[in-house]
This record gives sequence, structure tokens and C-alpha cells, in this order.
Amino acid sequence: MNPKNIARFENPDDKARFVRDMFDRISTKYDVMNRLMTFGQDVRWRKLAIAVTGLERGGRLLDLGCGTGDLAFDALKREPQLVVAADFSIEMTRIGMQKKNGRHNLVFAAADGTALPFSDGVFDAAVSGFVMRNVTDIDRFIAEMVRVVRPGGRVAILEITPFDKPLLQPFYRLYFHKIVPLIGGFVARDRQAYTYLPKSVDIFLTADELKSRMEKIGMQPVEYRLLNMGTVALHSGVVR
Ligand SMILES: C[S@@+](CC[C@H](N)C(=O)[O-])C[C@H]1O[C@@H](n2cnc3c(N)ncnc32)[C@H](O)[C@@H]1O
Repeated sequence: MNPKNIARFENPDDKARFVRDMFDRISTKYDVMNRLMTFGQDVRWRKLAIAVTGLERGGRLLDLGCGTGDLAFDALKREPQLVVAADFSIEMTRIGMQKKNGRHNLVFAAADGTALPFSDGVFDAAVSGFVMRNVTDIDRFIAEMVRVVRPGGRVAILEITPFDKPLLQPFYRLYFHKIVPLIGGFVARDRQAYTYLPKSVDIFLTADELKSRMEKIGMQPVEYRLLNMGTVALHSGVVR
């Protein structure tokens, strides 16, 4: 595959397969790569993402595209009744289950976010972290999150966002497009996965575009804040 076009797919099924295989492959090194690439900042972003879901003690949360479950584990600190952590990469959820340590109110599930096996309105909130760029049908994925959350509940989306500060652009590109793939090659033994990562951000929606999508799909109001000098966006919307 030409590394230049690594994040562009003509066929949605090809993208879904590529993404699932990639996360299956890097699952054992996924957490350590996150800490390294973000200098540990991702831990703080996840805490903020759980905070904006408004999850309360005794509530129910869906973590969609949960990967190894770091958002779900954060959510457990709020003493919810139930957290469902769902993903279509079995290997990512396997790592999550190894970290579970007997917590009874966290359940990992194998599910495709574009066709969820849950009834309408069963969750108080839903969160997804760093998933949206990887999804073939973003509208359907968000619509499924909205469907399974009760009216008045919140949907939070944490994602890397295209960087638009011209003066800092060369440093951003050097780090994200050159150094990160090198680290990925060295630590995760998968340079391809960490070449795809920055390229998938380049072609992803801007924070304003994602906000309007969320509004169109059925959330009002939708707000967002930018983190990490504008490289990460945290959106949240209330389900109507
Ligand atoms: C970058 S990881 C993020 C994992 C976790 N949310 C986090 O914050 O670290 C993206 C995850 O989304 C999952 N994913 C992508 N598309 C999906 C889909 N259609 N349905 C379910 N999971 C999906 C991938 O398998 C992967 O585990």
C-alpha cells in the first residue's frame, strides 16, 4: 500500500477490515504508545471526556470503540451501575479484559459501532475516544450512540483534530508525520499503523464540521473545546 494514500479507501469494507486488523495487531503495544506519543497527556484528556458525559453514581455508560478500555476504567471512578465497553477489535478488548481485575460493573462487548446490539435509550451517556477518524460511516456511528442514549443524556467525542496553526505547522508535521511513525516502528513494530494515524487526521472533519454533524444527527446543544494547543477536540452534545 502506498503510504501517501494509506488513509484513503475506495471501499468502506476495505477500511473497516484495515482498521480492525491494524488494532488487532498493535493491541499489546497500544497503551504504551499512547503514553509515549502524547507525553502522558492522553490520561488527562480521557478524564475530561468522562467528566463531560455527566455520568453520575448509579448511571450507565457506553464506551464505544473502547479499545483497551482506558475511558471505561476512568468512568468506573464515578461508581456507575454499569459501563459497557464495546469494540470490533477482539484483540483490543482482550487487553482491556486483562486489566479488568474483577470489576463487576464493567462489561466488554464485541460490537460494530455502526449497528449496535442495544435497545434505544438504555444508557445515560455514551463516549468515544479516538475512534471517529477510523469509522467508515461517521453519521451512522454517531446516530447509533444517540439512539442508545436516553433523551437528555450526553454523547462525548474525543478525537484528534486537523491542526490549523500555520506558524506551528512545520513542528507539528515533523513530530506527527515523521517522529511518531518512527516510534511506532520501534516500539509497536508497526510503522504502517503510525503512518496511517497522522494521515487519517489530515483528512478528518474540522471541529466545527463535527459539531454540525452532531447537531444534525439529533443533539442540542453541542459544544466543544480544543485541547493540547488545538490538536485534540472534545465535543459533547445533549440527546434530544
Ligand atoms: C484509536 S483506538 C481508541 C481506543 C480507546 N477508545 C481509547 O481511547 O484509547 C480506536 C478503536 O476504535 C475501534 N473501532 C473502529 N471502528 C469501529 C467500529 N465501527 N465499531 C467498533 N469499534 C471500532 C478500533 O477497533 C479501535 O480499538
